[in-house]
Amino acid sequence: MEVVILKDAREVGRAAAAAFAATLRRKPDAVLGLATGSSPLPVYDELARLHAEEGLDFSKASGFALDEYVGLPEDHPESYASVIRRDFASRVNIDQAKVHSPDGRAEDLEAACAAYEAAIEAAGGVDIQILGIGTDGHIGFNEPASSLASRTRIKTLLEQTRKDNARFFDSIDEVPHHVLTQGVGTIMQARHVVLVATGATKAEAVHGLVEGPVTAMCVASVLQFHPRATIIVDEAAASSLR
Ligand code: F6R
Repeated sequence: MEVVILKDAREVGRAAAAAFAATLRRKPDAVLGLATGSSPLPVYDELARLHAEEGLDFSKASGFALDEYVGLPEDHPESYASVIRRDFASRVNIDQAKVHSPDGRAEDLEAACAAYEAAIEAAGGVDIQILGIGTDGHIGFNEPASSLASRTRIKTLLEQTRKDNARFFDSIDEVPHHVLTQGVGTIMQARHVVLVATGATKAEAVHGLVEGPVTAMCVASVLQFHPRATIIVDEAAASSLR
């Protein structure tokens, strides 16, 4: 595990985007693992800039989102399919038809999860995965006590995560209770994992991730076992590291 501590969110975004750009230049048809939330926004800003100003080419790439709410209409502005489109896909020249998310509106959610796993495999697996981290150490929506070998499945969000995400909705009552998320085992199969965390609210989770014991109570700590995990944090998020 490589830990990189930088000054602020902008520098973190630039460093993570540089890792994506290096992968794309080496492998133009790379499979990109995409995350939503606040943490990846500076990464997507920098990727959009690299595309506009330096011609970084996404035309052969494809993408897979980490997760999706259950039950939100696909065109709901806070469905993760919409968020990925708005924050990332619409700003670069990736083929939108090749940007996938789990189908949170499927009648058979278990079948939708199995289909998502199969689609990732058929694409050849994720080459580089961007991750944020929850205040409780979750990655994707694998909340504490998730199986560290889990695959894409239905999860119930903890109250804290619903509170954390209420800022994106008019009220907490609108935040769905359930999500489909790639499992921990799924995420661990990405060839390169780049986790970004910024701000003091992430300091405890980053401590657990980097220095804690590997435990399902801080799911991100399993990345200590990943052969190629790059953890890029700002000084505030690094403030609880020894
Ligand atoms: C989002 C995701 C979550 C977030 C995490 C941090 O697709 O999988 O694990 O990365 O909840 O969210 P932010 O970045 O908004 O603090």
